[in-house]
Amino acid sequence: MLIKANSMTSPRNSARPVPADDAAIRAAAAHLATGELVAFPTETVYGLGADATSDAAVAKIYAAKGRPSFNPLIVHCADMETARRFAVIEGPALDLARAFWPGPFTLVAPRHADCPLAPRVSAGLATVAIRVPRHPVAQALLAAFNGPIAAPSANRSGRISPTRAEHVAAELGGKVAMILDGGPCEKGLESTIVGIHDGRVELLRPGSITPDAIAAACGLPVVGSGPEAAITAPGQLASHYAPRARLRLNAVRAAPHEALLAFGPNVPEGAAAVLNLSPTGDLEEAARNLFAMLRRLDDAGYDAIAAMPVPEEGAGIAINDRLRRAAAPRDAA
Ligand code: TXA
Ligand code: MG
Repeated sequence: MLIKANSMTSPRNSARPVPADDAAIRAAAAHLATGELVAFPTETVYGLGADATSDAAVAKIYAAKGRPSFNPLIVHCADMETARRFAVIEGPALDLARAFWPGPFTLVAPRHADCPLAPRVSAGLATVAIRVPRHPVAQALLAAFNGPIAAPSANRSGRISPTRAEHVAAELGGKVAMILDGGPCEKGLESTIVGIHDGRVELLRPGSITPDAIAAACGLPVVGSGPEAAITAPGQLASHYAPRARLRLNAVRAAPHEALLAFGPNVPEGAAAVLNLSPTGDLEEAARNLFAMLRRLDDAGYDAIAAMPVPEEGAGIAINDRLRRAAAPRDAA
């Protein structure tokens, strides 16, 4: 056992991304069945997957990420029917699941009394976060494994979520049996998370499915969507998605030592480097680029990044949420 654990962490045995063809997906499912970790793409970000019914397998996720044990995981299911075996999904929750599954949407719902999911996926809570992803590789892996897959974002705890297989390899390659490469993620930001309490929908984490779309799908008011929202998922610590570099928000000009994370057509001059989230000001394109560009600037070694303002509307709500967390002082966590 010890020898295996050591060899898994040596660079020589670090997993490289493999194209997610049928044979690779079957091999990945076999690893999951023996309690190993597998990274795979979803339409939001890459996930670090384990058998959600095995407490021992789920424990490996926490160890690999360095994730605090109080921070519960998302359980990925092939379809609505499977999801409803594990959690009570009815009324407005069912309306939302019908509207947004499969897709970039996660529902926090009460666990059934006899729920066979590992207790550790819920970190001791009576609820469980469930998602039915739409990405064809995630769907194929769920079908091949034929069971629920627990998967947080495949990054070290507190760091930037991966939107490409290479990001996973760089950060967790030594900790996983396999990395399925499905190319860059379509959305680029983690799923929208909601819970339902007292006839209100609580937005626990903004994502590409907007508060307006959620309200329209279930006819209930959505609370907790603003920058100062009090309600958060346990994992939504103030400091998160943290680059090594210092991040300055709402920058209208950049100093010569700063790298500029620009948005829109009017980019101030004078920065040491510029990456533009979307030269045309398209919020969905900016969401897709945000994490990969933050990583590139960070990896290039700039110790200060200035981010231009992004409008607080549509996908911009989630972009600003992630930027604020990336800029928060580390001791705020
Ligand atoms: O797009 C995504 O959601 C990706 C892909 C892989 O599915 N997953 C992801 O997982 O972002 P993670 O672990 O990085 O974020 C899950 C969030 C955490 O903030 C956690 O606290 C919250 O979901 N969460 C999980 N279970 C919960 C529960 N029972 N109640 C409240 N929040 C919960
Ligand atoms: Mg995460």
